[in-house]
Amino acid sequence: MTRDEARALDAADPLRRLRERFALPEGVIYLDGNSLGALPRATPARMAETVEREWGEGLIRSWNDAGWIDAPTRVAAKIAPLIGAKPDEVVVADSTSVNLYKLLMAALAARPGRRVIVTEPGNFPTDLYMAQGIAAGGQVEVRTAPRDRIIEAIDETVAVVMLTHVHYRTAEMFDMAAVTTAAQGAGALMLWDLSHSAGAVPVDLGAANADLAVGCGYKYLNGGPGAPAFLYVAERHQALLTSPLTGWMGHAAPFEFGDDYAPCPTMRRWLCGTPPILGLAALEAGLATFDGVDPTALYAKGQALADLFVAEVEAKCPGLTLASPRERTQRGSHISFAHTDGFPVMAALIARGVIGDFRGPDLLRFGFTPLYTSFEEVWRAADILADLLASGAWDDERYRARGKVT
Ligand SMILES: Cc1ncc(COP(=O)(O)O)c(C=O)c1O
Repeated sequence: MTRDEARALDAADPLRRLRERFALPEGVIYLDGNSLGALPRATPARMAETVEREWGEGLIRSWNDAGWIDAPTRVAAKIAPLIGAKPDEVVVADSTSVNLYKLLMAALAARPGRRVIVTEPGNFPTDLYMAQGIAAGGQVEVRTAPRDRIIEAIDETVAVVMLTHVHYRTAEMFDMAAVTTAAQGAGALMLWDLSHSAGAVPVDLGAANADLAVGCGYKYLNGGPGAPAFLYVAERHQALLTSPLTGWMGHAAPFEFGDDYAPCPTMRRWLCGTPPILGLAALEAGLATFDGVDPTALYAKGQALADLFVAEVEAKCPGLTLASPRERTQRGSHISFAHTDGFPVMAALIARGVIGDFRGPDLLRFGFTPLYTSFEEVWRAADILADLLASGAWDDERYRARGKVT
């Protein structure tokens, strides 16, 4: 494809104006929205409003007057349509790691006599570490099996199967309905990590009959660094599952200040401490970037951007090997290419204004966020990468120095 042809795709793109909802710096091609979403244009004003008016002037009255107390469920209701959930099946709370802990513990408690958590090796580290922390008590076992053998690993000893829907390194995507059915067929609960899925690929937890899910607020949902995470419990389980972190905000009547814990009947039972209002305000502004957007068109554009990148890189960069599925339906919205010197290549690429990231030992990872990435940018990114590789300019001490790339 030529640059003009890429420009023509942008001109014909019905979603191109959505980019105006973001404040992206000049001279940067941002292909890391799968790690930290870009800043929505409306977020600074929303933060100023929350800080100066709601906090500064409203003071403690804002828990009621500004709707702070309802923010965890109000913001969650805006995530629900992006993941095929009902509004009252989702809550925003804590981090993804903490939510994994809460749901794993709840699932184990709901399956007495079963002590195994099944997951895959190479799952996102925090998923593995949280499960390992639970197993360190000696009562629980973590069983790992490669993704093509995962279903065989699920037997009558398994309490919960925990998998990341879109793999953080390769973007490989599980068949959510098939794995969920297999887990449930063996009597286990299914817990999906949607961190690389929500806002990027079609997710229908309801249609998949999913039991439990978690996900990040700061990636495709544009909630800002360290944004609070979300947690999903299917309606049919809500009365049965309880949080192991029985903080006062999950109590049925927190402001009665009673001595004994009683879980809230709604998803608020998954709250622990006081909700992070500033983070919730930024996440709500992030979610507003999806307002009025046709999800089918959004997903189609994300995949078209990724296809263009794969085609251009494969045509122009002989030293790179595709490490993500070629088939659209089998991957999320990022693409990884392997290069033995991936670290300095990515560092040099970032120095040239193309921001992706590096995932060791050898992956260059590029995220395609259809809300704000253009076809011309994708074309340019591949061109700059090809130029860099052909010149060998990445092979420099400056870029080889280890440190965090992004
Ligand atoms: C699959 C997955 N789960 C969880 C996390 C992060 O969890 P937390 O928000 O607790 O840092 C990430 C971050 O990249 C992730 O990719």
